[in-house]
Order: sequence, then C-alpha cells, then structure tokens
Amino acid sequence: MSDVSGHLAVIGLGPGDARYLTAEAAAALADAQALYGYAAYLDRVPVRDGQSRHASDNREESARAAAALDHAASGARVAVVSGGDPGVFAMAAALCEAIETGPERWRRLDVAIVPGITAMLAVAARIGAPLGHDFCALSLSDNLKPWELIERRLDAAAGAGFVIALYNPVSRARPWQFGAAIERLRLHLPDATPVVFGRAVGRAGETVSVTTLDIARKNPADMATLVIVGTRETRLIVRPGLPPLVYTPRAATAVEVSA
Ligand SMILES: C[S@@+](CC[C@H](N)C(=O)[O-])C[C@H]1O[C@@H](n2cnc3c(N)ncnc32)[C@H](O)[C@@H]1O
Repeated sequence: MSDVSGHLAVIGLGPGDARYLTAEAAAALADAQALYGYAAYLDRVPVRDGQSRHASDNREESARAAAALDHAASGARVAVVSGGDPGVFAMAAALCEAIETGPERWRRLDVAIVPGITAMLAVAARIGAPLGHDFCALSLSDNLKPWELIERRLDAAAGAGFVIALYNPVSRARPWQFGAAIERLRLHLPDATPVVFGRAVGRAGETVSVTTLDIARKNPADMATLVIVGTRETRLIVRPGLPPLVYTPRAATAVEVSA
C-alpha cells in the first residue's frame, strides 16, 4: 500500500487571460478541492462549486506554502496557483523549500508541478525572436539576494553574450535598481543594443515597445513589466507600417568580450 497521502498541484496560469492557460493546467484547476494563491492570480480562475479559495498577499509565499501543504497533508486535493510558470521566480521553489525543511508528512504528498507560459516567452513572441540564441533570466529583486550578486550576474551574463530577460525590474520598494542594472550592462554592451519592454502582456492594456540600451533606463517599467536586453548580435528589422521585429540570430559569429 502506498504511503502517499494528499495531493498538491502547483499550477502555472500563464501571463494573462484564459487563452494562455494550458489544457493540463485547466484540468488540474478543475480537479482541486482547494485553491491557494495571490488574490490577483486566484481572480483569474473560474469559480467552481465546492472548491474553497484561500487568497493571500504576494509577499506571504512561505506562509501560503505551509498552509497549502498542511491542507494537502490532511488528505485534500490542493492547488497553488502562480502567474506565468510556477517554477520561474514563483511558488514551486517556495513549496520545495518548505517541503525540504518542513515536517515529514509533507514529504509523503503527491506533488505535481504544472507548467505555464512564462513572461519572457510571452513578451519575446510579441516582438519577434529576441531569445533566438543563448539567453538567461535574472530577477532584479534584491529581496532574497544581495545587490552585489545581481551586479556580478549582470556582468557575467552580458560579458558572455547572453540575451538577458529581466524579471521584477521595479517596485515601489525598489525604485533605483533597474536604472543601476541598465548602467551596469552599458559597461559591456553598445549603446545601440535593442531593449524590449513588455508590460501586462496577454492582459488588458498590454504594451510592447523597443528602445536602445543608452536610453533604456528612462523607459517606464513596473512590476508588470518584463525587459529583454539583447546582445551585440541582436537585430531590429524596421517594417513599413508595421511594428519592428527584434531577433537574435541562431548563430553567433564572435566571442563577446567583457569591458
Ligand atoms: C514574481 S515574477 C513571476 C514570474 C512568473 N512566474 C512567470 O513565469 O512569468 C513577476 C514578474 O514577472 C514578469 N511578468 C509577469 N507577468 C507578466 C506579464 N503578463 N507581462 C510582462 N511581464 C510579466 C514581471 O517582470 C513581473 O515583475
């Protein structure tokens, strides 16, 4: 007899409205008896009879993880929802951290991570193929890591020629970090490097724009914005009467050298 008791699904809702929800995620949502998540994400999920909802603040990830795990360990089918993909700067890692340090009963749970379309893929698809060659993703939030580490990673990524997707560029509590990151990248990359800003992609009021690295810090950005910084190889195709296409060619021709 299996000693697994209770079921926990960590479900990615994608970047915005229901068009971006995978069929697997929709089925997992329907299967849950209880839903946990940030209120704004729970609001995206259709209400279903008999399913309880447990909304919490965005900053309460550890408490949410513990509550969801305890609920699942009581034998229920519980789902935790995340925007985008749950494994990208989101709840799947918070739940794994809780399971590793938490009570033994949490290790007996049947856990499923259900992927979703992450913001950098949604933004990239709107503008062309900026992630067409090697790329990386970095969160600019220094809530869980020191700013010096972020600077080292920016140096390493830009110096090695990675396209860089910047998550969490700005918040009320972190007003200067985005400008500082752009200035850091300017130490390694030409002024004309294309920079893509995607805001609320896949939701009402979506905007996508392109600028260059030298003036990127002046571009508005907030917690609903994902920024993609190109490389020396990233190209912008101007088209008559149509938005430009930004892409990074599949082949790299030179070794990028850090300043
Ligand atoms: C805490 S991270 C969560 C990322 C999410 N798990 C994902 O896979 O997209 C939040 C950041 O994701 C980015 N983001 C999330 N949804 C977005 C959207 N619809 N449009 C643009 N950026 C988005 C923003 O950079 C935001 O600050």
